[in-house]
Amino acid sequence: AGQSVRVADPLKLLSSELSFLRQNITSLLGSKHPALDTIAKYYFRAEGKHVRPMIVLLMSQATNGLSPRWTEVQQREMDREQQRREGKGMGVDEPLEQEEVLMDENPSMLERAKDLLRNPMAAFSSSPSSSPSTDASTFASSSANLLPTQRRLAEITELIHVASLLHDDVIDLAATRRSAPSAPSLFGNKLSILAGDFLLARASLALSRLGSNEVVELVASVLANLVEGEVMQMKGNVPSAAANGAGSAAGKDSARSTIVSASSLSGRGPTPEIFEHYMRKTYLKTASLIAKSARATTILGGAGSRQGWVEGEAVKDIAYEYGRNLGIAFQLIDDMLDFTASAAELGKPGGGADLKLGLATAPALYAWDEFPELGELIERKFDREGDVERAKHLILRSSGAERTFALAEEHSNAAIEALRRLPESDARDALEKIARDVLTRTK
Ligand code: FPP
Ligand code: MG
Ligand code: MG
Repeated sequence: AGQSVRVADPLKLLSSELSFLRQNITSLLGSKHPALDTIAKYYFRAEGKHVRPMIVLLMSQATNGLSPRWTEVQQREMDREQQRREGKGMGVDEPLEQEEVLMDENPSMLERAKDLLRNPMAAFSSSPSSSPSTDASTFASSSANLLPTQRRLAEITELIHVASLLHDDVIDLAATRRSAPSAPSLFGNKLSILAGDFLLARASLALSRLGSNEVVELVASVLANLVEGEVMQMKGNVPSAAANGAGSAAGKDSARSTIVSASSLSGRGPTPEIFEHYMRKTYLKTASLIAKSARATTILGGAGSRQGWVEGEAVKDIAYEYGRNLGIAFQLIDDMLDFTASAAELGKPGGGADLKLGLATAPALYAWDEFPELGELIERKFDREGDVERAKHLILRSSGAERTFALAEEHSNAAIEALRRLPESDARDALEKIARDVLTRTK
């Protein structure tokens, strides 16, 4: 019921935008230090899915023009472009400063990496000092209906996402990512962390150029959310874990906790608090970036607290609700695929990789509901011989994957519901398609 007939393909709608995006990201990441330059660009060498930037671009297109301030916003951005071309003032596209860096290292590691990546590396051999550009003609023709600041925001979301992946692969001891060796496995943990920091630094610089404190604040809060989500995950499934102390020092990590004491677990399924904790963590680690960047782009397009209303609702709340629900659906499917898809299909560790990290995600929590004996394994983070295999077996026998999918479907539908409150457009259709496709993705 209520299915739309026209379905725009997001990739087709954005194909030229996405090649701009890749080019621009590469130039945002240039460093005069060759090792840093290589590592910072490493995860951009392969075709990522670019889900986050795609959402920002489409949400921009779906909402631009709705604000009563739209012409004013557009004029201001065009003036800024003009000034930049005349060499006056900092445009959003001014190249970021690159400090001279003295080389002090043995290039052998770099050479090894370059050998490994011979072909894909060529993809980003463009000059690091070239200016990222929103070609004046694309802006002027404005058939794309995007502001330069919105394009840059799309790039920033991808930088933040990839920064979090660099850190994540250190934390998760992941050997692969995007169907290739992970950054830590090639360059080591220390350089991977630093490269992630470098990406965040460049993202911050670019963010400050957007000229909106409200947007800076939103995106900065995403960075805090990513870390909070990761820490919640690391500390276990009970909200008061921190209050319970750090738990035993033994085991997989020193902050190992305290999901609940073993006695309270035996014979019982997960409590509602445990599910709530999981959902909160999921919002923080995945949905926050998508939700808040979707909101931010409507702000750049002129949506304010009292402006930009559609049938009584603030456009920015619609964008946020879409992103929040889509992000939650996305992570639920990710957690399901960890059990149902192979590492080869995923291009990263799979086949119960989360269990090996001691993590109980939605499929495990639902399975626990059906097989109470799982509680004990979850509580000790699957750290005894055979725990991972036993848990995997029980989870695959349970309806954990189906129930996870059903929950993802609810969130996908809620995302689509939010969109219905925007006027019809190709971009809105494409956002709807993303929300549907998130359920059938296999990687
Ligand atoms: C992937 O999850 C990781 C995230 C969604 C966020 C990770 C966040 C941090 C490591 C905090 C640091 C944050 C910043 C901004 C540097 P996953 O491990 O479940 O997915 P995977 O299977 O793709 O590895
Ligand atoms: Mg992780
Ligand atoms: Mg990971």
